[in-house]
Amino acid sequence: MQTVAIISQKGGAGKTTLAVNLAAAAEKKGKSVLLLDLDPQASAAGWKDSRIAETPVVVAAPASRLSQFLETGRESGADFAIIDTAPHSENAALEAARAADLVLIPCRAGILDIRAIQSSLNICRLAGKQAFVVLNALPAQGSMAEEAAAAIHQIGGQMIGAGIVQRIAFNHAMTAGQGVVEYEPAGKAAAEIEAILNNVTKALRKAR
Ligand SMILES: Nc1ncnc2c1ncn2[C@@H]1O[C@H](COP(=O)(O)OP(=O)(O)OP(=O)(O)O)[C@@H](O)[C@H]1O
Ligand SMILES: [Mg+2]
Repeated sequence: MQTVAIISQKGGAGKTTLAVNLAAAAEKKGKSVLLLDLDPQASAAGWKDSRIAETPVVVAAPASRLSQFLETGRESGADFAIIDTAPHSENAALEAARAADLVLIPCRAGILDIRAIQSSLNICRLAGKQAFVVLNALPAQGSMAEEAAAAIHQIGGQMIGAGIVQRIAFNHAMTAGQGVVEYEPAGKAAAEIEAILNNVTKALRKAR
């Protein structure tokens, strides 16, 4: 089982959006996924409540029980564990990063958002884990993505792929308890998520 933690100290960066969409995309590829929701707000667990499909397994768990839940996932034969975390909780983010093979840091493209990922990068360094930034909610047009990528590079962050555009499909899919790969399989949002999943899979293979 390989474990991906999704952390960002800033609220609303897109942690839960990325977590549920990667989980749904991996399931669609035939993988068995355990989605662990460490956020007391339990948004990923709420997504599962509105979901008709039985998989992925979503468990709301306190960070202090993370290793036990991961062990259960491993024993039950899960291919992937994806950990969604709460904002403003460095201890839980550190626990998640320590437990992970790879960390994703979603980030909106504003300069203040980008500066705020420094604390998440520090957490990953402390945990000794490879971290990738996923630019999220980008405008569909314009130079913002390139500017943001340059700023992320400057503070020592490494991007994974081109990022995710602000798209209504993400909101609709979330409401329906679906991933965008299910809600609109041929859509642009689905292609963005599939590209990130491919890059994550490649990075995990290299990290082995
Ligand atoms: N690419 C996107 N396109 C459209 N809406 C988005 C996108 N990414 C996130 N959102 C919306 O932005 C809001 C915040 O996203 P999300 O809940 O995933 O962030 P979060 O980092 O998990 O927040 P929190 O820190 O509160 O847990 C949600 O309403 C979500 O639907
Ligand atoms: Mg969240």
